[in-house]
Amino acid sequence: MSYIPMKPLLRYATANKIAHGAFNVNALCQADALIEAHEQLRSGVIIQVAEPGTGYLGGNAEFLKSTLDQKKLGAKRIADHVRKLAEQTKIPVVLHLDHGRTFESVKAVIDAGFSSVMIDGSAHPYEDNVELTREVVKYAHKYGVSVEGELGVLGGTEDDVFAEDSCYTNPMTVVDFFKKTGCDSLALSYGTKHGAVKGDHVKLRNEIVIASMENMRHEHIEGALVSHGSSLVPQYIVAEINALGGAVGGKGVPVEQLQSVIPCGISKINIDTDIRLATTRNFRELFVSNTQYQKDEVWQRMQANKSDFDYRNYLAPYIDQIVTGNYKDEKVKKYVQLMQNAVKEIALTATVYFGTVGDAFAFAHDSMEQCAKQYKTK
Ligand code: G3H
Ligand code: 13P
Ligand code: ZN
Repeated sequence: MSYIPMKPLLRYATANKIAHGAFNVNALCQADALIEAHEQLRSGVIIQVAEPGTGYLGGNAEFLKSTLDQKKLGAKRIADHVRKLAEQTKIPVVLHLDHGRTFESVKAVIDAGFSSVMIDGSAHPYEDNVELTREVVKYAHKYGVSVEGELGVLGGTEDDVFAEDSCYTNPMTVVDFFKKTGCDSLALSYGTKHGAVKGDHVKLRNEIVIASMENMRHEHIEGALVSHGSSLVPQYIVAEINALGGAVGGKGVPVEQLQSVIPCGISKINIDTDIRLATTRNFRELFVSNTQYQKDEVWQRMQANKSDFDYRNYLAPYIDQIVTGNYKDEKVKKYVQLMQNAVKEIALTATVYFGTVGDAFAFAHDSMEQCAKQYKTK
């Protein structure tokens, strides 16, 4: 059993200039696939669920409108499932909340058993972000749960990265934020963007990462730096989707740029869009090559909105089976396989690209209880 917080995993990654892919899931079967893929490459695994994802797992197909109770139910479902899986594997397993927005929603997943959380206060004024993050850290660290914060607004494109009104993260503020909040890791705005359309001229500002790390070292701050919005949007997958009747577009972060920022100090790289794209390609492939499946509502939904590649929408008719793992229909069993293959394709390539192959047993798997003690004695 190596169910661990994020901190020990990222501490090792930062020290060794490698980065972990962190993969967004919205269904139980995807967690199994992520663990299998990482077992194969003997790497630690970060399974993450964004707040709307907890609502989906709680049974609400309109996940953007989920209630706190639905999020609690979803968080419990995925946490119970992942903890059970973690008992059966030797690789370290982290379950992380992605983009938690409020203290209540973060508390809900900690109470459900997550080992790591993000509190994204980046939309708030600086002092409010500090206050909210500090409040979350206080609660989370009691249980040894790691905390990721966010500074700066993602998706910016400016020439003068250090301009006063830049929406990029100010490396001078990074130290202040770590000191005031006590968080373990920080998501930076340095040129990445969420979603499939990141633009034709993505330019990561490595200097922001370098300056942040240097400032942290000067002040003896042990923390990890995180890259959101980092999907590669593989063009072979985009082309395959469109050849199979889809209508998606977009370009991602060039892999060489991500690889070049890792030695500067990025140790966690978030990937969601690529999983959605690979899943959508797999579904289209099935429906196009096996026309008997086309009677299913999933295909009608995909055809009604050919540019949508969020599998949560077209799988809505089967949400109950997908989020409970109780697969009554044969076709749902088939869909589960497609979802799992997609997650594996993306996770395996990212793990090789970002250098974490073989790191699973290279560091101590400090448990939540051990981390809680370490925070107490600090
Ligand atoms: O950064 C956000 C993730 O891509 C999660 O997406 O909010 O649609 O679940 P979501
Ligand atoms: P992408 O949309 O680039 O996959 O980013 C995912 C992410 O940052 C999740 O927090
Ligand atoms: Zn993100």
